[in-house]
Amino acid sequence: MTDTTSNKMWGGRFAAGPDAIMEAINASIGFDKRMAAQDIAGSRAHAAMLAATGILSDKDAKDIREGLLTILSEIEEGRFTFSAALEDIHMNVESRLKELIGDAAGRLHTGRSRNDQVATDFKLWVRDQLDAAESGLLALIDALLGQAEAGADWVMPGFTHLQTAQPVTWGHHMMAYVEMFGRDLGRMRDARARMNESPLGAAALAGTSFPIDREMTAEALGFDRPAANSLDAVSDRDFALEFLGAASICAMHLSRFAEELVIWSSAQFRFVTLSDRFSTGSSIMPQKKNPDAAELIRAKVARIFGANTALMMVMKGLPLAYSKDMQEDKEQVFDAADNLMLALAAMEGMVRDMTANRTALAGAAGAGFSTATDLADWLVRVAGLPFRDAHHVTGSLVALAEKQGCDLPDLTLDQMKSAHADITDDVFGVLGVENSVNSRMSYGGTAPEQVRRQIARWKEILS
Ligand code: ARG
Repeated sequence: MTDTTSNKMWGGRFAAGPDAIMEAINASIGFDKRMAAQDIAGSRAHAAMLAATGILSDKDAKDIREGLLTILSEIEEGRFTFSAALEDIHMNVESRLKELIGDAAGRLHTGRSRNDQVATDFKLWVRDQLDAAESGLLALIDALLGQAEAGADWVMPGFTHLQTAQPVTWGHHMMAYVEMFGRDLGRMRDARARMNESPLGAAALAGTSFPIDREMTAEALGFDRPAANSLDAVSDRDFALEFLGAASICAMHLSRFAEELVIWSSAQFRFVTLSDRFSTGSSIMPQKKNPDAAELIRAKVARIFGANTALMMVMKGLPLAYSKDMQEDKEQVFDAADNLMLALAAMEGMVRDMTANRTALAGAAGAGFSTATDLADWLVRVAGLPFRDAHHVTGSLVALAEKQGCDLPDLTLDQMKSAHADITDDVFGVLGVENSVNSRMSYGGTAPEQVRRQIARWKEILS
């Protein structure tokens, strides 16, 4: 609908209202209403500061602050009518404030601009997401520690190239993800610490001639300090990009784990059973139990990384300070944040509920000549061979076992000796998978003792 009256917030120099298409491309209220609580918190802090510095009367500030609270409850209770003609959340709130308290509402915008206002609102919103991601990651790490503790000494195959490599422990595999999600936690925390500077009071781009107190509003909004350059403060979206960057890496980690769960829950592997609560059935094949949650988590990285790329492209090449291009920042971040939190929660639920099939894990652990490296290491340690020669001798024994259709421990001592005369009965001691994992005692290795040490370290970090 074409609005024939000019905008009441900035229409002073306009004779006509915008074309309907102009309004459609310009309005952000459809999505930025998600920042209503942040917008009202920012305005309330600004009004209190304007009164404290004598820029506004106490009476006006009181009316403004109370009116804003009324608007917040109207929005929370779904009683607020948003208008596209008022473009965005900032002007929707201010316009309603005028209806509620009259002319004093017009004094709220003293010493600020929508440019520092939107930067402040969006920062507060992203900061909440960094906190939510931190909670989600902590819960997921806790679930992984539970799995690791239960199966610290359960043997399973370790893979490279998805080919059996060496036996590892279930606990060790779970703890690998604890390290990955632990780094994600660190990235979220780092980003939060770096972003926590208040843009409010940077005004349109140059600061303001009013004697405002930026420390006061920064403190009221939980920021560590005011941002030090007004041009940067209104045009910086690094905080959103850092969130998207950290979210992308986290989503990539989630997708790797999700992929393993898809493989492990297949009839061919049977390493894990996912709970009914986190699986779906097929409408045609009655036997099916599908790992849909894992598959969707595997796919989420696409939209999250897509948001990261999109915002990088929006920001690339923008001159200082604010440009309307930057309004394209929000939907990307909203979508990425929603999907990251959902993926973290779904992964946490799956991990807490899933049952590792210890027998299947152990059965697979010894397959594929997984202790061949242990045999080579034994030849180095006991028979004194250079590792390269030991590798060669072991290779010939693997070939022999393959020809006989048996595993390495099933070869006879005579067959072993045919590959190298110095091999003794002792060698059979290192060919079992339990021995193999127990021997991997190097720091960070797969031996259950080392795994338990890392579990204890993480519990200490998190306590
Ligand atoms: N809706 C705008 C945004 O999201 C708010 C800032 C508008 N500032 C301006 N100078 N037009 O970026």
